[in-house]
Amino acid sequence: MPDPLRDKQIVVGVCGGIAAYKAAAFVRYLMGCGAAVRVIMTEAACAFVGPVTFQALSGHPVWTRMFSGDTEGAIRHIEWARKADAVAIVPATANTIAKLAHGIADDPISTFVLAVRCPVVVCPSMNVHMFENRTVQANIERLRQVGMHVVEPASGPLACGEEGPGRLPELETIAEGLRWALVTQDMAGERVLVTAGPTREALDPVRFLSNASSGKMGFALARTARRRGAEVVLISGPTALSDPDGVRTIHVVTAKEMLDAVMAEAAEATIVAKAAAVCDWRSREVSPHKLKKDQSDAVWAFEKTDDILETLGKQKKDGQILVGFAAETQDLNTNARTKLAQKHLDLVVANLVGKEDSGFEVDTNRVRLFYPDGREEDLPLMPKADVADALWDRIMGLRAGAEPGKSALYESGDARSAGHDP
Ligand code: CTP
Repeated sequence: MPDPLRDKQIVVGVCGGIAAYKAAAFVRYLMGCGAAVRVIMTEAACAFVGPVTFQALSGHPVWTRMFSGDTEGAIRHIEWARKADAVAIVPATANTIAKLAHGIADDPISTFVLAVRCPVVVCPSMNVHMFENRTVQANIERLRQVGMHVVEPASGPLACGEEGPGRLPELETIAEGLRWALVTQDMAGERVLVTAGPTREALDPVRFLSNASSGKMGFALARTARRRGAEVVLISGPTALSDPDGVRTIHVVTAKEMLDAVMAEAAEATIVAKAAAVCDWRSREVSPHKLKKDQSDAVWAFEKTDDILETLGKQKKDGQILVGFAAETQDLNTNARTKLAQKHLDLVVANLVGKEDSGFEVDTNRVRLFYPDGREEDLPLMPKADVADALWDRIMGLRAGAEPGKSALYESGDARSAGHDP
């Protein structure tokens, strides 16, 4: 699935708060994601930023007044409402939130929101005491009850000099809120556990054994599952990536820490996807001091780490779906099939690493899927986010199977599957 914002018509409503200036950057951000944007401003918003800015950025006239006198203006809210895929109120002030919570329609934004049938995403931003005010909180709760999406404000220093929740979140966080609102929530009710990245096994205080996994595939899995409505826990080894929005992320370093974290979370999980490249060995002894190079003839003694996925496979709960990854440099099919059987998996996602366009570190991946019933399926070269979505499609297909562990996809002979003879 491409970015859910691509080719969407997004209407941004700008209210009169100091964060209104950030709305200009948000419009630009959305357009960078391939969305078409139209802007509506309250009168108060125009006191903070001029409509000309938004007109220039969006390439469309900005709606600022209820009654501009012309016929086009009079029906604009109906026309725009019909075309809109989503509305984002950025920033949403206490005043506008109160109007939206009570169905008042006395300015362009509140009137427009009453006329739309698409998702509405509200981003409250105000002084911390205003935000914590009980009436404001009750109004925000009411927005949720009537089906609007609320992106919580960030905490930190506020323009008024005070500190606490009330800051407009990062643009990416707001955009992610919009994506959740746009994407079908077909994974709602699933509790997904994803592992990602490499692990590191210390040799001495400054050196370690690890691998080239970037974590990108696992992070893409966590982010897309969250977008599709799942509750997601991500357990990640050291990576350079930022935690995905809305995902509880647990950071670990060693295979043993990953094992402990996975075991603590796995009982609750309905789906486990183990994209992590776990180190298979660790040093028997870790030197407490940095080893000097004049000791460099040292011979390392390694011991095997626990196989986390195999441990999970042995104690798999009824109905739990276990997905393993197999990074191979040769004998892809044989190795993937061995892992599938040995670890009691419902799906193995295998790829040949060390290629320019797939495997570690790169943004794209080309994978072959192995199912327990002997079926194989090749997915084309795709960005990792799209591979993640395609995998969730398959996994939700497995979930729809009548019997746990049996592939409904296979039984129904899904047309998307390329199929190979085993
Ligand atoms: N895995 C795991 N714990 C380990 C090693 C691997 O949970 N100690 C999981 C990985 O997260 C992956 C799958 O097992 O989902 C396969 O990992 P991979 O490194 O490809 O294979 P190994 O099982 O380690 O076997 P080999 O190194 O012989 O290829």
